Order: sequence, then C-alpha cells, then structure tokens
Amino acid sequence: MHKVVMSAARGAMTSFYLGLALLLALTVNARAGWLRALGRLCAATAMGFLAWSIVLANQDGTFAAVPAGDRTPLLLNIEGGLIGLGALMLVASLPFTWRRAAPAPPFRSTGAAYGQIGRGLHWASAALIIPAFTMGQFVRVLPSGRPDRAEFLATHMAIGLAVGALVLVRLGERLARPAPANPPLVRAAHGLLYAVLIALVLTGLALAPVLGLHLPASAGAEALHRVGLPALLALLLAAHLAGAVTVIRRMAR
Ligand code: HEM
Ligand code: HEM
Repeated sequence: MHKVVMSAARGAMTSFYLGLALLLALTVNARAGWLRALGRLCAATAMGFLAWSIVLANQDGTFAAVPAGDRTPLLLNIEGGLIGLGALMLVASLPFTWRRAAPAPPFRSTGAAYGQIGRGLHWASAALIIPAFTMGQFVRVLPSGRPDRAEFLATHMAIGLAVGALVLVRLGERLARPAPANPPLVRAAHGLLYAVLIALVLTGLALAPVLGLHLPASAGAEALHRVGLPALLALLLAAHLAGAVTVIRRMAR
C-alpha cells in the first residue's frame, strides 16, 4: 500500500511540473492579456511553493540534520530567497501584463524576433530546470531512509530527462532558423548554457537509470554532475538573469 501511495506521489510531482511547463509554453506569449497574466500567476504560485518548501526545511529540522560543513542548506536558502523574490516580481507585473497590448511574435524565429516556438520552449525548459536543480540538492541533503528522498530523486530524474528532450528540440529549431543577433560573448554564453544542460543530463544518466536509459558510471561523471556542472550552470544563469532583465521583451510579451 505504502509503495502504491509513494509511486502515485512521484507521478503527481512529475506531472505537476510537466503540466506547468506546457501551460507556460502556451500562455506566456499568448495574444490575450488575461491568458498571459494567468500563465504568470501559475508560474508565481509554483515558485512560491518551491520557496516555501525551502522555508519548511529550515523549520522541520531537515537542514539542521545535515552534517556541518555541507553548504547545500545555505545554497538552497539563497536560491529560495531568489525564487521567492522572482515570484513577487511576477505578481507585481500582473496588472501591466494584463493591459499590455504587445505585437504578436512570429510563429518561427526570424533574424528580428524569437518566434512562439522558441519562446515556448525557453519558458518550458526554465520551468523544469529550476525545480530540477533544487530537487537535486534536496536529494543530497535528505538521509537515505526518508521516503521523500526517493520521491524527489524520481522527480529529479524524470524532469531532468524532459529538460534533455526540450534542449534537443530547442537546438534543432535554433539551428534550423535564424534568431535575433547577439554580441559574440552573449552567443558564447547561450551556447555554453545548452552544452552544460546536455552534459548534466548525460552525466545524470551515468549516475542512475531512467526509463531504461543508462550510461556507464564513472567517478568523473559523478563529480561533474554533483559539483562542476551545477556550479557552472548557476554561474551562467546568474549572468543570464543579469543580462536578460533589460531585454526581457525579446522572450515575453
Ligand atoms: C537539467 C538537468 C539536471 C540538473 C540541472 C541536475 C542537477 C543536479 C544537482 C544540482 C544535483 C545535486 C548535486 C549535489 O549537490 O550533490 C543532482 C544530483 C543528482 N542527479 Fe541530477 N540534474 C539533472 C538531470 C539529471 C538526470 C537526467 C538524472 C538521471 C537520470 C540525474 C540524476 C541525479 C542523481 C542520481 C543525483 C544524486 C543525488 C545524490 O545521490 O546525492 N540528474 N542533479
Ligand atoms: C532557468 C533557466 C534558463 C535557461 C536555461 C535559459 C536559457 C536561455 C538560452 C539558451 C537563450 C538563448 C536562446 C537562443 O538564442 O538560442 C536564452 C535567451 C533569453 N532568455 Fe533565458 N534561460 C533561462 C531563464 C530565463 C529567465 C528566468 C529569464 C527572465 C529574466 C530569461 C530571459 C531570456 C531572454 C530575454 C532571452 C533573449 C536574449 C537575447 O537574445 O537577447 N531566461 N535563454
């Protein structure tokens, strides 16, 4: 019975994030203002829950039980603060989103604008990468006896694999179509983001199998997946966010 309940819970968390990704892909650049606002509200709610689960981990003793010297709880608290702040900013933007009459982007990207497909894939991947990242860290800090560890790990691997699929589709669309021009440094950072995500999925598949997919395990893959690649991804995302605020209209109406 316990097993049945746990596997239903795992499926529920994975379906929740996959559903959120689909919802964002369909709404963030929709024609109707109310639909765009609804998409942002759903994203803000999910981000609020994610931040709240980190607050709870401080209160219920989860973080207190982590061996001294492991900085993951501190990192999770910083990420929770940023995610909470992002949720508040999204909520504050709702009235403007609602009223804004923005020109419709083209369906496919052109040299002048990212298209609906590229934008949808961008937000769907962001909706999966953020929880995949924090869930990986939760797996690290939860003791192996706790049932929610297995739940987090299964969800982490499933949405991580979905990120891999989305990155491949995105790269396909990106290479097939022109996209708005960017300076070489920005282009290099975007290329590196794609490469780091693919490397994370491949090294993840060397740590544990998902859907029958498995790559040979190695100490190098483990170190890369648990330390090097997450650190590089965090660095690239910080630079990405700093650079993206001023050009946000390129990805969202
Ligand atoms: C975008 C994709 C992914 C990201 C951003 C990501 C990120 C992370 C992070 C940040 C950790 C925690 C590292 C630590 O602090 O120790 C982690 C752990 C882990 N990930 Fe991933 N991952 C991704 C995809 C995958 C995939 C596809 C799989 C497997 C199929 C996977 C399997 C694992 C496993 C087994 C752990 C180990 C947890 C442990 O035992 O400590 N990951 N991941
Ligand atoms: C969490 C994961 C995210 C990832 C992995 C990611 C990745 C990327 C990549 C690879 C591109 C380049 C698209 C291309 O030309 O091929 C891009 C563009 C962009 N992203 Fe993100 N992104 C993320 C989150 C965000 C967030 C939260 C924002 C909002 C602040 C954002 C705003 C933008 C904007 C405005 C562009 C267009 C930049 C330009 O061409 O000048 N991204 N993103």
